[in-house]
Amino acid sequence: MNERRSYRIAVIGGDGIGPEVVEAAIPVLEAAAARSGAQFEWSRFPWGSEHYFAHGRMMPAGALDELRPFDAIFFGAVGDPRLQDNLTLDGLLLPIRRGFDQYACVRPAVLYPGVRGPLAGKAPGSIDFVVVRENTEGEYAQVGGVLYPGGPHEVAVQSGIFTRHGTERVIRFAFELARQRNGRRLVTSITKSNAQGYGMAFWDRVFVEVTREFSEIRTESLLVDAACMDFVRRPETFDVVVASNLFGDILTDLSAAITGSLGLAPSANLNPARTAPSMFEPVHGSAPDIAGRGMANPMATMLAGAMMLDFLGETEASRRVESAVRGVLADGSPLTPDLGGTATTTETTSGVMSKLRRE
Ligand code: NAD
Ligand code: IPM
Ligand code: MN
Repeated sequence: MNERRSYRIAVIGGDGIGPEVVEAAIPVLEAAAARSGAQFEWSRFPWGSEHYFAHGRMMPAGALDELRPFDAIFFGAVGDPRLQDNLTLDGLLLPIRRGFDQYACVRPAVLYPGVRGPLAGKAPGSIDFVVVRENTEGEYAQVGGVLYPGGPHEVAVQSGIFTRHGTERVIRFAFELARQRNGRRLVTSITKSNAQGYGMAFWDRVFVEVTREFSEIRTESLLVDAACMDFVRRPETFDVVVASNLFGDILTDLSAAITGSLGLAPSANLNPARTAPSMFEPVHGSAPDIAGRGMANPMATMLAGAMMLDFLGETEASRRVESAVRGVLADGSPLTPDLGGTATTTETTSGVMSKLRRE
């Protein structure tokens, strides 16, 4: 193939360490893609909390229309200690996930060789599962309100929205992923239907219905409290885990922790029908405690970039990025402090770049 494939990517670095990790990952993705004869055209959007301070909005009113023509969105993180988190997140990240129908949030959890996780006796590679998080409704639907704000009779209502359309499609996505992964061929559904007798009992029922379409895949249904324990006690037994928006969020900080660091966990917000761009980002947030100090681990964002390459059809380039990151982890250097090293973001990036040159 001689023609050079080119992808238009919208880059939203956002707040805190977001821009630091995104700018570290971009040259890595460029180098990996170039080897496959592909290239990127990056367009940077200065949206986030600084934009809010200047313009009173996290992003402009027509932001989704501006983003729509892009092949994908590469996102850092958002959140600023000076602003209420709901304002920042519901002003930028969550409207993109919902507005572009990125209903399947895919979050792999892999214990890479060379990484010392907090769990004793886990062999490298023994933890290798993926959480599929419902990403457009559930507990994040923002349906509710406050009555008599500030008064002694204040009432706050926050509803969870579980639709048949939304629940079926994300569960089906999880089964299809289990089929493709060809791993343990197991889908685990996680709810709290003993306490949430409407939305979550409904989810359990839909799970059983969808199960019938995939007779070759084994299934398991867990309550979220027990599932937290099992993520620690028997993480190697999971393959594909499917959960609601909030549970998927919580479980993926846990899955990141048991595989070594939040600084290693990538996330893909997928619109599987490709009717709008998908968005790729690290699982972690803006980490104000380390922002501006050059010590953020850029690997989660690089691995999110690898997921973006894969979704764009650049599977070889994607594999190259993952393998370069793996290579640095296996060497045990240069690593950032979250992984027990002393390297800076820039030094880690150079380490990944030199592995990439040898790929
Ligand atoms: P966080 O993920 O930002 O940080 C949690 C801890 O992990 C911190 O100690 C941080 O230093 C560390 N950490 C995170 N990423 C790291 C990296 N790449 N390298 C090294 N260490 C890393 O979570 P938080 O502190 O609860 O939230 C901070 C802000 O980020 C809040 O405003 C929150 O709402 C927001 N947030 C945004 C996103 C997102 O944009 N997708 C995700 C989570 C949190
Ligand atoms: C994540 C984040 C977001 C989420 C927050 C910041 C709204 O924690 O991407 O995991 O819960 O989706
Ligand atoms: Mn989260």
